[in-house]
Amino acid sequence: MKLLVAGGCGFIGSHFIEYFLKTYPKAHITNLDCLTYAAHPDMPAHLARLDPNRYCFVPKDISDPMLKSWVKEFKFDAIVNFAAETHVDRSILDPDSFVRTNVMGVQNLLAVAREGGNIRFVHVSTDEVYGSLKPTDAPSVEASALDPNSPYAASKAAADLIALASSRTYKQPVLITRCTNNYGPYQFPEKLLPLLIANALENKSVPVYGDGLQVRDWIYVVDHCRGIDAVLQKGKSGEVYNISACGEAPNITVIKKVLDLLGKPHSLISFVGDRPAHDRRYGLDSTKIRTELGWKPLVSFEEGLKTTVDWYLQNVEWWKKVRGSDYQKYYQANYDQKFVVKNANKSEVNS
Ligand SMILES: NC(=O)c1ccc[n+]([C@@H]2O[C@H](COP(=O)([O-])OP(=O)(O)OC[C@H]3O[C@@H](n4cnc5c(N)ncnc54)[C@H](O)[C@@H]3O)[C@@H](O)[C@H]2O)c1
Repeated sequence: MKLLVAGGCGFIGSHFIEYFLKTYPKAHITNLDCLTYAAHPDMPAHLARLDPNRYCFVPKDISDPMLKSWVKEFKFDAIVNFAAETHVDRSILDPDSFVRTNVMGVQNLLAVAREGGNIRFVHVSTDEVYGSLKPTDAPSVEASALDPNSPYAASKAAADLIALASSRTYKQPVLITRCTNNYGPYQFPEKLLPLLIANALENKSVPVYGDGLQVRDWIYVVDHCRGIDAVLQKGKSGEVYNISACGEAPNITVIKKVLDLLGKPHSLISFVGDRPAHDRRYGLDSTKIRTELGWKPLVSFEEGLKTTVDWYLQNVEWWKKVRGSDYQKYYQANYDQKFVVKNANKSEVNS
């Protein structure tokens, strides 16, 4: 299979590339990523080392109008799109860049896939499009109404609707995955778990929004990648598939578990004012992918959390390199970025 992966230098996309190259010895992957701040500067080299004969990197933006002719030439069998602006706090400060990439970029990539020979297209989305659940609500199913609350979630929901409309209108082979909160190695240290680990290791306070009782549904990143693969290989065109390990837990419980694994005191926890429109609970029902495609998660929360914490302990240089103002200077000096990252140092906590 000749696969085009968009956004493969980010957290989940990079795991997907590694998983896919290892699982399918004949697969070839082209990774298209415009290297925003969320792509660690060492990631292109890390991925290139996995298998230089079956992997190549193309520094391009999914919104690039010239992508059409380029994709036609390469005759890909499928496209998997991870490319997105993903940090909810940043979406509150700078919603424009989220609409540009998550909506306009996806619209462009869908058109590219159509004109490149109606290429099978898996669009990676999120549980956040369903909005917040009440404590007694059943977990969201694929048919649940979309009710996003943050600019990030709204931009992802808009892309989902555009992708589904493309499938219906143009008979385009589009499939959507909606997954819960991922955790694992290589996540940018502005998101909840890596931020918490990095702060705790530096004996800094760990900011927790509101009362910390927001419930998230956790899944180990490689289990998510296996779910995307199942949808890519066996999913039905025009369908949405929820991916979840049924791992609902309040943030504060997860935070305390991580502090315990690190041997750090709970007194590092510092409750801060809540995020505007902060969703109280996400929870997904993933019966469809389990029964129709035979997928199930393989990594327990305890096992995955320990692997994750160990990785951050063993890779201090990796996360230190992208924390603080030096990284922002490096990032701006090295890339001619169109999307200005505003208030980067103010972003402290995420879902
Ligand atoms: N992280 C989660 O818990 C989670 C859960 C469910 C769904 N998702 C979805 O999975 C996808 C990947 O998430 P992630 O956490 O790996 O994100 P990330 O922020 O770590 O990585 C995003 C990647 O996309 C690239 N990118 C951004 N804009 C681009 C553009 N215009 N053109 C090309 N590349 C661009 C970045 O450089 C980066 O490499 C996203 O679509 C996200 O909505 C994430």
